[in-house]
Order: sequence, then structure tokens, then C-alpha cells
Amino acid sequence: GAAVQVDISAIQPGEKLVVEWRGKPVWIMKRTTEQVAALEKLDAEVADPESQRTAYPTPEYAKNRSRSIKPEIFVAIGICTHLGCSPSDKFQTGAQPSLPDNWQGGYLCPCHGSTFDLAGRVFKNKPAPDNLEVPPHMYLSDTVLLIG
Ligand code: FES
Repeated sequence: GAAVQVDISAIQPGEKLVVEWRGKPVWIMKRTTEQVAALEKLDAEVADPESQRTAYPTPEYAKNRSRSIKPEIFVAIGICTHLGCSPSDKFQTGAQPSLPDNWQGGYLCPCHGSTFDLAGRVFKNKPAPDNLEVPPHMYLSDTVLLIG
């Protein structure tokens, strides 16, 4: 399929843009400095902290804690790796129903309760077997992203 070029200059910290690529929703989340820093606190609670699993291809540049090229910009396919529902944004921290006590922000799948952090890393013992998929992407400039 055709690659999709996206101007990301207008995305504010803490916001997510959704674009379509190959018929799938692709999320482009601009994480705040605090959100990036909080990822480390969750390494022990997520199933595959640096995306070493091979159930589907993870680009080399996403095999790290932030699962991204630039720490603040997270690009992922917004489809749950369990049965394909679309997880919802839960960016706020603090106690929220159905979320872990130390929730640092992330995504909740409404279908069977899988939780993902802001790097799309699935929490342990959830129905979703794997992290959210990171599509191939690259930066054409500081503000233009190419997906695909
Ligand atoms: Fe997401 Fe089942 S489809 S938890």
C-alpha cells in the first residue's frame, strides 16, 4: 500500500492524532516529558518491555522502552493485539476504574480489558498477547512523518 505522509507540527504534548494507513488507524501520540519518564516505572509490569518478541515484526528503531525513534513521538497501529478492538485513550493518571493503581497513562481495550502503557506495551496477564504494533515509519523532516 501507499505510504502516508503526515504533518505532525500541530500535535500538542499530550495529544494524539489518528491517520489511516492500509485501512488501519495509525496513532501518532506526542508524549510529554513526564509521560516519557514514567515509562521506566512500568518495565516490571509489562510483558515485553523492549519489544523483543517476534510474533510480528517490530522495526529495529522501536525495540526500546519508548518504542519509538524520538522519545516523545509514539507511532502505533491502534488495534488491540487480542481480537482487534480499538483501545481507548486513558491519558490521565491517578485512580480510575479498571486501571492499575499506579496507572501512568495509556490505553484500555474496552472489549476484554487489556491495558497498554503510553508506549503501547501490554501489561502482564492480560488477554492481549503482544504490544501494539509499530508500523514502519521515518522522519522526512522534524515535522513530517512518513508511515509505510
Ligand atoms: Fe482487546 Fe480483547 S480485543 S482485549
